[in-house]
Amino acid sequence: MTSRDLTLVLGGTGKTGRRVLEGLTRRGVPVRAGTRGGDRPFDWQDPATWEPALQDVRAVYVSYYPDLAAPGAPEAVGAFSRLAVDGGARRLVLLSGRGEEEAQDSEKLLQDSGAGWTILRAAWFNQNFSESYLLDPVVDGEVVLPAGEVPEPFVDADDIADVAVAALTDARHIGEIYELTGPRLLTFADAVADISAATGRRIGYQQVAADDYAAALAGAGVPEDVIGLLLYLFTTVLDGRNAHLGDGVQRALGRSPRDFADFARRTAATGLWNQR
Ligand SMILES: NC(=O)c1ccc[n+]([C@@H]2O[C@H](COP(=O)([O-])OP(=O)(O)OC[C@H]3O[C@@H](n4cnc5c(N)ncnc54)[C@H](OP(=O)(O)O)[C@@H]3O)[C@@H](O)[C@H]2O)c1
Repeated sequence: MTSRDLTLVLGGTGKTGRRVLEGLTRRGVPVRAGTRGGDRPFDWQDPATWEPALQDVRAVYVSYYPDLAAPGAPEAVGAFSRLAVDGGARRLVLLSGRGEEEAQDSEKLLQDSGAGWTILRAAWFNQNFSESYLLDPVVDGEVVLPAGEVPEPFVDADDIADVAVAALTDARHIGEIYELTGPRLLTFADAVADISAATGRRIGYQQVAADDYAAALAGAGVPEDVIGLLLYLFTTVLDGRNAHLGDGVQRALGRSPRDFADFARRTAATGLWNQR
């Protein structure tokens, strides 16, 4: 390996990509962050940015945005993977969604690229409550979602990043599909209750009908495609198909995944959820 053998981390400012960059850097692996604001901007919507971002790159953490189930994702991921391999990349690690049938088209195209591949099929991230669209509702004291009794094995972004770093640096993970979940099934109400207990504040949870949720999002100015994606996630993906634990963290790292309650305690201790 030379200093020009870079690992490109897409979504490098996001929930998993940021942690993957940190993990690789701690191991002394030369990295490049693929984001729209970088020195060499990377934009999924602008294929002209892909080749400059791939220069001198031997491995890529492929995190698509907004979601592999979104229209155009397989075409983009397939074309990007072929370009990466043509340019000298040998290892591709794809962040995928657990139970998302549509994501499998992208997985297949990346697997067919000729690279040594690893697929990470992740459950819903814990960090949606601390670094994403569920942060404000938690801070405001009430989470309202179209999710009821179906439980989800929320996974910690730190575990996803640990598996991604292993897969990018150790050939033993080539050809593996890892189902990444936490160690426990929780409903959204359970998750909010864990956060409430960790903060010592009363944070309510209310289930609403999908149509009412969509109408509320539209009223708040959320774009139609984002609303469609959220409804897909809360109805199709959360229909019970994922209501069981996966063994990916244990299989990849030889240890148990982090628990949601630990995430809640850690995050509560930072004061993030008591901002207002
Ligand atoms: N969140 C979950 O619970 C969950 C669960 C399973 C799978 N996933 C998958 O994880 C992936 C990331 O989703 P996320 O919601 O967690 O987001 P995220 O990674 O936290 O944040 C989005 C990242 O994507 C980058 N980005 C945004 N638009 C981009 C574009 N047009 N081109 C290139 N980069 C762009 C952003 O960087 P800049 O803005 O700096 O460019 C940022 O780094 C998605 O494929 C999603 O399906 C998420």
